[in-house]
Amino acid sequence: MAPSVAQIQQVVADPIQAAKQSVKAVEEVATTEETKTEVGAKGPSYPFYYPYFDVDEKFPPLELFDHVDPGTRADPKKPHLLTANVKTTNISPYLGTEVSGVQISELTKEGLDELALFVAERKVVVFRDQNFKDLGPDRQIEIAKHFGPIQRHPTSGNVKGYPEFHVVYRDGDNDRFREYTGGNRASNLQWHSDVSYEKQPPGTTFFFILDQPENGGGDTLFLSQVEAYNRLSPEFRKRLEGLRAVHSAVFQADFSRNRGGPVRREPVESEHPIVRVHPVTGEKALYVNQGFTRHIVGFKKEESDFLLNFLYDHVAKGSDFQIRARYEPGTVVVWDNRVTAHSANPDYDKNFRRHAVRLTPQAERPTEGHA
Ligand SMILES: [Fe+2]
Repeated sequence: MAPSVAQIQQVVADPIQAAKQSVKAVEEVATTEETKTEVGAKGPSYPFYYPYFDVDEKFPPLELFDHVDPGTRADPKKPHLLTANVKTTNISPYLGTEVSGVQISELTKEGLDELALFVAERKVVVFRDQNFKDLGPDRQIEIAKHFGPIQRHPTSGNVKGYPEFHVVYRDGDNDRFREYTGGNRASNLQWHSDVSYEKQPPGTTFFFILDQPENGGGDTLFLSQVEAYNRLSPEFRKRLEGLRAVHSAVFQADFSRNRGGPVRREPVESEHPIVRVHPVTGEKALYVNQGFTRHIVGFKKEESDFLLNFLYDHVAKGSDFQIRARYEPGTVVVWDNRVTAHSANPDYDKNFRRHAVRLTPQAERPTEGHA
């Protein structure tokens, strides 16, 4: 089986080579301004965030925590976020809004609560012209922590000293994308929900672009798992109620280990409901994804494959509940990982650099909301 895009992103550079280059890049940027310019011209614009792989880095198992979603505290009118200066444009009725005229970095606690609610409602929000990428790691992490403890990825490239960052990187010298997607696929798309194998998978998720292909491309595709659920018949939805599926990190860990990459925490497997309820909006959403969902609890293999493949096919071809998030310099995309799935769109020439960073606050244990 070809690895998921999530898995591909995590090993996009040779781990050992990347570690060496990461150290080199950080050292270079810390020297003279002249050197910094040279690095900027030839290398990543933000070498500090070059993917770093330390095979000796280890994390303990995650512990469960109580999560109160910031969106539950928000004023529904969002007066601190959607001020008179803010312009919003919906990308699609079901999900996605472009926002300009507000800096995430200047939001108060109340504004960040409102951002959580807004993202829960719109599912994907594309913030333009942000200074977020220039805030420095401590402030970036501080903002993201408002939404939950930040997941430290078990296998992906991170930033030396800052394992909270998940780095997505590809350039002309580091292009294992084709190798990892296999030579026999007609499309490189892979819909997934990030690290859904965690007992408490991510909620409000931040993704900011540092370098992007100069000839366009490299959008992220998103779909609404709420609308995907709503499209199903009442009878079919009844059959899904109460079903649970296993989400696994094992393949991802094995894949990294086999490449000589890190496995910072032993892989986990979690059972989650196939239909989950969002804690703020109360909306029901499908919660299975091809990247990490493995089988339906209690079903035989053929039954499980049959139902999961139907659901994967249903969401993948639902272009009337999908959007593309397009990047510009300064763009920060914030999505609610609980009610969306997404796919990278690697349509750009491999010689172009694409560099982005994710901060991934974890949220509540998925619930069916029957209580
Ligand atoms: Fe992802």
